[in-house]
Amino acid sequence: MEPAWAKLNLSLDVLGARPDGFHDLRMVMQSVDLHDDVTVTLDDTGTCRAETNRSYLPCGADNVAVRAAQVFLSRAGLTCGVHIRLHKRIPVCAGLGGGSSDAAAVLRALERLTGAGFTRTQLEEMGAEIGSDVPYCVAGGTVLAEGRGERLTPVTPMPRLPVVICKPDFPISTPELFHRVDARTSRCRPDTEGICAALADGDMPRLARRMYNVFEDVLTHREGEIAAIKSRLLDGGALGAVMSGTGSAVFGLFADADSAAYTKRRLARDYQECFLTETIARLEI
Ligand code: C5P
Repeated sequence: MEPAWAKLNLSLDVLGARPDGFHDLRMVMQSVDLHDDVTVTLDDTGTCRAETNRSYLPCGADNVAVRAAQVFLSRAGLTCGVHIRLHKRIPVCAGLGGGSSDAAAVLRALERLTGAGFTRTQLEEMGAEIGSDVPYCVAGGTVLAEGRGERLTPVTPMPRLPVVICKPDFPISTPELFHRVDARTSRCRPDTEGICAALADGDMPRLARRMYNVFEDVLTHREGEIAAIKSRLLDGGALGAVMSGTGSAVFGLFADADSAAYTKRRLARDYQECFLTETIARLEI
C-alpha cells in the first residue's frame, strides 16, 4: 500500500495568465497526515484501471491515477496491465490535492514494483503531464512551488502541528476561480518571503498570520460559508485559517491538540467532512 497524502496551501499567489492557458503560481505547499491508501498491482491484462470506495469517481482513463499508470508504462516501455485500488479519505474537489496525490502515489508504487530506475525528478516530470499539483505530490513535505506548480524548491520543513480541515458540501470550479482572478485589477498578495522566513525561524504563529490565498478575494456571496468556517476555526484557537487551493476545504493550524480536537468536534456537528490531522515534515519515500 502506498499512502497518498493530502496537501495544504499555506499560501497561494496567482502571478498571471500564460499563453498555454495555465497561470504562473507561487505557493507554499505542506503535506498532512490525512491520506488515501493506494494499492497498485501489475497483471497481464494489458489495461490500466482503478477501483475506488467512491462510486462517483471514474475507473478508466478519466481517473488521474489511471492516467499516471499509463504515462509511467509508456515512458518505461512496458506493456503489462495495472490495477489500482483507491481507498479514499481525502475529500474530492476540495483543494487538498487528493487526485494529484493518488496519481503521484501510483508513480512511486510503479517505480518500486517495476524497478524501472526513474529518478525522483523524472517521476516529477511525468507528474507534470498529468496535473499541475502532481510534481509536488511525488515527494511532498514543505515546498515552494512556482511556474504551473512544477518548479519545486524545498523550504525549511514545518514542525508537526495539529490541523483541522473542514470541507463544506459545495465544490468550487477551478477554471471559474482562475477567470475571476484574471478579471481583477488590483489585489493583495501573500507575503511568500515572510512565510518562508517564519518557517526558517520556526515561528509558527508568525507563519499562520501570513497564510493567504488570493482565491479567497474572489469568492462570491454564495461561497460565504468559507469565511464563516474560517471564523469558527479562529474562534476555536487556530493560529491562522485559510482556504486550500481552489477550495472548498478550509483549514486551521493549531498550537495545541486539545483546542484542535474541540474545534473539530464543534464543526463536525454542521459539516460531514471534518478532519483532525497533523502536518508532516518529510515523507518517507
Ligand atoms: O493541471 P490541472 O489539471 O490541475 O489544472 C486544472 C485547471 O486549473 C486548468 O485547466 C486551468 O484552468 C487551471 N490551472 C491554471 N494554472 C495552473 C494550474 C491550474 O490555470 N498553474
